[in-house]
Amino acid sequence: MKMEVASLVLRSPLIVASGVLGSSGSLIKNVSENPSVGAVVTKTVTYKPRNGYENPTVVDLGYGFLNAMGLPNPGYLDYKVELASIKRDLEVPLIVSIGPSNGEEAGKMVEALNSVADGFEVNVSCPHAKNLGLEVGSDVQTVRKIVKAVRESTGKPVLVKISPNVTDFVDVARSAVDAGADAITAINTVRGMAIDVNAMKPVLSNLYGGLSGKAIHPVAVRIVYELYEKLEVPIVGCGGVYDWKDAVELMLAGATAVQIGSAIAYRKMSLNVFNEIEKGIIEYLTTKGFSSIRELVGLAHNS
Ligand code: SIN
Repeated sequence: MKMEVASLVLRSPLIVASGVLGSSGSLIKNVSENPSVGAVVTKTVTYKPRNGYENPTVVDLGYGFLNAMGLPNPGYLDYKVELASIKRDLEVPLIVSIGPSNGEEAGKMVEALNSVADGFEVNVSCPHAKNLGLEVGSDVQTVRKIVKAVRESTGKPVLVKISPNVTDFVDVARSAVDAGADAITAINTVRGMAIDVNAMKPVLSNLYGGLSGKAIHPVAVRIVYELYEKLEVPIVGCGGVYDWKDAVELMLAGATAVQIGSAIAYRKMSLNVFNEIEKGIIEYLTTKGFSSIRELVGLAHNS
């Protein structure tokens, strides 16, 4: 099950997606002790501290979650202190998710966080934050500037998490790669809205948010499949991975590794989902006669 993403060596291709664990260092440490977890991506940290939006910020729709948390975080300087307190005890690579507004912020954050990160994931895809996420990530020139600043500030692997909410996602991913990204994470949430029919108003305080979970899995598979045909860098698949079949599907589409997020929340924050998915993949590899998980990557393109 060992896999490499850029220069990150993962004992398993199953990665904890950004957002699910909040900003807590102790949670990250606990998660890293699960032998089926290959790496952990932190909650996105921004240049300035953010309180996030008022409640309600998350709604369980049954087929997925709709969330607009508002990127709550203590800001990169305080978060660095939190991560520094646990970094030495971690058993897996720590990928720090950053959400910059521009290249200058990106460069400063990465320089400061370099000592606690094994790699970075640049969030240019949160679908509902002013001057952040998708607002900067839908413009290829801005993505290029941000990723260039990150690249110039670190020698560590740089992943860029892209949005399904833009039609030119291949151009966005390509501009990130041209600017020095080592890998692309696809996808962040799909912008959506829920309305309470009794209250007759939007459920989320922010009115709209990002849909994750089961419902977006086919969108993720399609985007990973397309990116695999167009890019030469590894793709990390993310979107509605609830069981081993979902993970295998993304790998057959072209993902080198797979992130799991909503399934953890769906399972009431139990990490057993990682163990079950890993077991299922190993059984599948044995049944199909593969000797390594690497053999799966992109196989659906041969048909
Ligand atoms: C949030 O904190 O509101 C979600 C972050 C994201 O969608 O990237």
